[in-house]
Amino acid sequence: MVLHRNLGPLDTTAIGLGEMPLTIENNLGEAKGIETIHAALDAGCRHIDTAWSYYCSGGEEQTGEKLVRKAMASWDGPKDEVTIATKVGHFRNFAEDGTTPTWGVNGQPEHLVEAGKQSALALGVDTIDLLYLHRPDPNVPYNESVEAIKQLLDEGVAKLAGISNASVEQIDIARKILGDKLVAVQNQFSPTYQSTRDTLDYCEKLGLPFVCWSPLGGYRKAKDETKYDPFREVGQAHGVSHQQVVLAWELSLGRHVFVIPGAHRPETILDSLKAGDLKLSAEELAKLNA
Ligand SMILES: NC(=O)c1ccc[n+]([C@@H]2O[C@H](COP(=O)([O-])OP(=O)(O)OC[C@H]3O[C@@H](n4cnc5c(N)ncnc54)[C@H](OP(=O)(O)O)[C@@H]3O)[C@@H](O)[C@H]2O)c1
Repeated sequence: MVLHRNLGPLDTTAIGLGEMPLTIENNLGEAKGIETIHAALDAGCRHIDTAWSYYCSGGEEQTGEKLVRKAMASWDGPKDEVTIATKVGHFRNFAEDGTTPTWGVNGQPEHLVEAGKQSALALGVDTIDLLYLHRPDPNVPYNESVEAIKQLLDEGVAKLAGISNASVEQIDIARKILGDKLVAVQNQFSPTYQSTRDTLDYCEKLGLPFVCWSPLGGYRKAKDETKYDPFREVGQAHGVSHQQVVLAWELSLGRHVFVIPGAHRPETILDSLKAGDLKLSAEELAKLNA
């Protein structure tokens, strides 16, 4: 069974499927996307992370949410056990060269409210399980963007709220506005990206779930592979992939930690879902924490 943890009042899996690679640039097509989501669900994954903005720059919007809807509709397992999280506040664009895909940010309250309603429609639900503010918009006071998420909760568009790419100060602002409806902080965190450790630790103090995005270092960016050497050594000793060791290490950082590894295909998410079973010794954890 995949490791379960509580995300606020939701009982879900600590390892979720990060949907992004299935619908942004270099995805392997809809059929492979649905196969990947079904494989994850069949293996016991009960947490899918998508976003309004998980589509290819210049292409049809919200294809990530639409893919999740299709996959859920054609899955014959217990749908009510699955937590589906989405996010608003980002959109896709191109750089000035007209060809390089980029991520634009829009934290204007009117846009967020409209996007939240569009997310519910694309997911085919009356109420979104968990709706994140995707990223602070430097041109909009943070509290105004968070108030828009609160409006979506009040209107019943979303049940619970999260914030993403947030600092300690922004976590405090969001807590004041959202109260106990704020159930998750989703920040980048991996062996090659630990500058958000202050927020991971702060969330532990608050008893607030912390969701690591790009928990394996991300597939789009070049990373310092030497940082993964200790994880490879531990993986070899256990006869498992170093990715499982990375995820198990992250989950060891507190019972409030969740991971949402991305995948283009069933094989990788099926391997990642086993990370909760991996028992790392105190000696191994000391080596990985060094
Ligand atoms: N909140 C935000 O601002 C934000 C930003 C970025 C991402 N995210 C979320 O975080 C999720 C994960 O991030 P990510 O997809 O960028 O990166 P990631 O999870 O760090 O890495 C994904 C890559 O790792 C590979 N992989 C996964 N599990 C593996 C395994 N067990 N063995 C070998 N390879 C494995 C995948 O391979 P294959 O490609 O071969 O399947 C994929 O290339 C996204 O899907 C998205 O939901 C959120």
